[in-house]
Amino acid sequence: MSARIAVLISGEGRNLQALIEACAAQRIDGEIVLVLSNRAQARGLLRAQQAGIATATLAHRDYASREDFDAAMLRVLAEARPDFVVLAGFMRILTPAFIRAYAGRLLNIHPSLLPRHPGLNTHQAVIDAGETEHGATVHFVTEELDGGPRIIQGQFKRRIEDDAEALAERVMQEVELKIYPQAVAWMARGELTMAEDGRVSLRGKMLGEPLSLTDLETEFR
Ligand code: GRF
Repeated sequence: MSARIAVLISGEGRNLQALIEACAAQRIDGEIVLVLSNRAQARGLLRAQQAGIATATLAHRDYASREDFDAAMLRVLAEARPDFVVLAGFMRILTPAFIRAYAGRLLNIHPSLLPRHPGLNTHQAVIDAGETEHGATVHFVTEELDGGPRIIQGQFKRRIEDDAEALAERVMQEVELKIYPQAVAWMARGELTMAEDGRVSLRGKMLGEPLSLTDLETEFR
């Protein structure tokens, strides 16, 4: 049976677009049943509508507290009955209540090689730290911001001329658009699990380290 997937966005929606295409191509055995945004102007909403996917907007500013906003999101999500929820450029911090409701069923992609550079402005942070490698990480969401168990990371060598903008583009094109559809495909097939102690397994095999782009080219498709 095809998985029911909900995607939370705030902006451009390039990761969302990759997921839409992977579902259409049946690389992901799933259906995006709802795209939920906290911003009405998010371009990702148009991408969803063009693909005939149901959308909803809940403006966080309309709610008195983070708890109220998350409770409203939980109600909208419950109606869509997703098997799991994918954060794709969703720029709000989630409350523990929300995270608990989808424990082990909530994925995020973060534009850095976690645990390095959680939070915002990761590309500039890589430059400021003089690091020579950069990339992105897909992880399960837990209550620690950008700190949940890592599933897969892709990385590349920073070129001397790469400024923050160039790095953002490379992270998106060379890493994010490759690793997120793959992780969601595993999730949709029920192959990816997070145990209560936070350990991640793929096809019943526990991952010591997160998977890499190289793994994708070999056995782990
Ligand atoms: C991505 O870099 C993602 O890792 C970060 O926000 C960006 C979203 O881009 N959390 P898009 O909306 O998928 O185009």
